[in-house]
Amino acid sequence: MNMNFFVNTRLITGVDCVKNNAERLGSYGDRCLIVTGASSAKKCGALDDVTKALDSTGVKYEIYDKICQNPTVESCFEAGKIASDLKADFILGIGGGSPLDASKAIAVVAANPDITEKNLYAMNWSEQPLPVVAVGTTAGTGSEVTSVAVITNSKGLKKSFRNDLSYPVLSLGDPKYTLSLSDSFTRSTAVDALAHCVESFFNRSANDISKIYAVAGIRKLLKVFEKIMSGSTDVLTIEDREELYNASILGGLAIAITGTAFPHALGYFLTENYGIAHGTACAVFINEFIDYNADVKPELTKEFFDEIRVDEIGFKTAVEKITPPIDVKLSDSDIEKLSVRWENNAALKRNWGNVDTAFINSLLRKLF
Ligand SMILES: [Fe+2]
Repeated sequence: MNMNFFVNTRLITGVDCVKNNAERLGSYGDRCLIVTGASSAKKCGALDDVTKALDSTGVKYEIYDKICQNPTVESCFEAGKIASDLKADFILGIGGGSPLDASKAIAVVAANPDITEKNLYAMNWSEQPLPVVAVGTTAGTGSEVTSVAVITNSKGLKKSFRNDLSYPVLSLGDPKYTLSLSDSFTRSTAVDALAHCVESFFNRSANDISKIYAVAGIRKLLKVFEKIMSGSTDVLTIEDREELYNASILGGLAIAITGTAFPHALGYFLTENYGIAHGTACAVFINEFIDYNADVKPELTKEFFDEIRVDEIGFKTAVEKITPPIDVKLSDSDIEKLSVRWENNAALKRNWGNVDTAFINSLLRKLF
């Protein structure tokens, strides 16, 4: 099996890793723009840790805290211009996937303040993006170790770019920040990590390295899932939270190599049209994804269950019990209207077999 592997990120995790690595932050320049959402970075203590670390190294900063869930390209342009005016040397994103993905786009706009939306997504960048430092506060996205940014475009559609220049130069992950996450957010982010691992494993671009990450991530997740199958995530200890965080990083490393597959490709419309949390929107397709691959790649499916050391029933039960329930009903005409989204979709092409519109329509009819 041919291999192809590149991750350009120094990753440091552990309790108090921001405080313990303050000096590293100073090595990226004198000024930075902190990019985050309205409240979670404050609530979990990450913003406080970051500002103290920057103060201790003499780095000047401004805070842009208007990144919402499923960040808009407009907010990336607004923050990018602020960073450019500030003459920021680097962007420091704090959060889950939304602020971290936004930081990658903001880093491009900051270095190219006159860039158009089209050229941002097309990666026609005259200047290299500013370095991005990522401080993770959820256990799901894996954006800390990927070069992918998923940003909602001006038409309201989630659209991504993926560029080797967009790997965070440094990612700091302190599992204590995830202690304040709600039960439903803990679940939706954990199943996002699971979807990353599973979609990476059953992926045309998978190789020996990506499969090792994917399997290791799934094993960690399933172990923690056992504890919360029939109860709340309140029982999770800091060690469990660390396992979830590390699993999310393994999932990120896996999709950094392979990209995702049809659960992510299909999940976006549930988030855009029905406000379903990203991880949940993807995870509702995981068990169907397993069935699909059992049909088109039976040997690979056998390898999958051998590797994860849980049988098919146990795995599917865990997915059902951990994924927050959703209530979405689609009519035939709703499904028909979605068809345009499946044309030339890169993630759909990464599946084994042929995931065509007829297959997707029958799947959506079955599930919704
Ligand atoms: Fe995801």
